[in-house]
Amino acid sequence: MSIHAIHSGPMLFLRAAEGGALRLAVTCLRPADSPAPVIRTTDRVPVEALTTRAGTTLWRSEIVVTESHPRYEVDGTAYEVAIPDEGDMTVAFTSCNGQERGDLDRSEEERNLMWARLHRRMGHEPVHLLLHGGDQIYADEVTESHPLSAKWPDEVPEEISAAERHDLRETLANGFFLRYATQRAQAGYGDVVSRVPSLCMWDDHDICDGWGSLPQKAQNSELATILFEAAREAFLLFQFGCRGDEHPEICSGRTSAFSWRMDLPGLSVIAPDLRSTRTKRQVMDAHSWADLDSLLHSTEAQTLLISSVPALGPRLSWVERAMKLTRRMEEYEDDLRDQWQSYAHRDEWCRFLRALMAVHDGEETSLAVLSGEIHLAMRATMKTDTGHMHQLVASGISHPAPPEKMAIALSWLARLGEAPLKGHPIRMHPLPGQTRPYVAQRNYLLLRRREGQWAAVWDLEDSGETDPLPI
Ligand SMILES: [Fe+2]
Repeated sequence: MSIHAIHSGPMLFLRAAEGGALRLAVTCLRPADSPAPVIRTTDRVPVEALTTRAGTTLWRSEIVVTESHPRYEVDGTAYEVAIPDEGDMTVAFTSCNGQERGDLDRSEEERNLMWARLHRRMGHEPVHLLLHGGDQIYADEVTESHPLSAKWPDEVPEEISAAERHDLRETLANGFFLRYATQRAQAGYGDVVSRVPSLCMWDDHDICDGWGSLPQKAQNSELATILFEAAREAFLLFQFGCRGDEHPEICSGRTSAFSWRMDLPGLSVIAPDLRSTRTKRQVMDAHSWADLDSLLHSTEAQTLLISSVPALGPRLSWVERAMKLTRRMEEYEDDLRDQWQSYAHRDEWCRFLRALMAVHDGEETSLAVLSGEIHLAMRATMKTDTGHMHQLVASGISHPAPPEKMAIALSWLARLGEAPLKGHPIRMHPLPGQTRPYVAQRNYLLLRRREGQWAAVWDLEDSGETDPLPI
């Protein structure tokens, strides 16, 4: 990966949407020895350096764009922003923006093909909001950059001295920073995030593969603590536009997890943090559950709930138990332990589904779940008292699609269905125009409100845009 100082275009982060205006944070990267960017709305606004790493400074401004002035400028380049109102709205949902190995060695054009497609769409369809549902980077290789973490998670040092700790922390933090920064500067991706305000929630690869579900020896080590600190700093900088020591204002009160909610006209978007307090035995701790309960209170007419791993899916717990029989399959067992459907998380899964269903069944409120994680497009429903609650999966936008046979096998498994809550069966269905529930193509999802009705559309790399699915 390049160690040259990086120059990137801006990225927008939504702070609030009120009264025909958007309050945004805008961040850009400049070589540390270059002047600060000049950022303007109607007037020039102050900029603040969030951090400098690897010869590059991340700068931030807080701006407000309005219906009468829906644009901002960075160093003389103007960027138009679509301001949402009570009328038509388009929300894009993406996940899995990378791959485990050699992600940034790929051709920029090929890697960001679906981003470029989303950008071209913006020429004829305003996109008001960009939701990043997890694996915004694939940080798996970051631990290889220091000898003490090179064998993570299989081997962890028994002890780390104070001097080693500092060196390791800096090396990992620089590794995360460079990975995000390199991606930020890429065409396609950069074109979208400079004009559509982002809201992000992380998943495991933003930290490391399987974070929270790894063997105890690794997960409880000092190295794990240092790795998580470095990942969290980068998460705050590049997924919230915050300093490493700030707690994002969109997040609920607690400082050790990052669950958030954002209200727009007629729309609530809610993202529980399913990574910060995950262990092999729990998805979220008691505080995070209390956070989620309060975030689900008094929602707008439509809620989009981001669950970084799918909340509705086939009966994977059977597969997980079968895998316990063979040591060779342990790697996949960690992946299955990450799922809501894991036998270890059954009670929490039921609690989660009951909480979501209560919103969906509320008077004049509806909820749909958005997820990534599996590198396939998929959809499912759960029967509720007021109709079906939808699970929409879009994954990944730049992660290569898995082999077709994986989609076939999972589609076969999907026939088993599942009913963790009695009387509320979960069913998988083909996407509009497709024959199987799982589609092995790179993709992203669009949620469109037209004349007050919400519908979902997948943009699939080979098949193109699906017909709209009312949700
Ligand atoms: Fe992923």
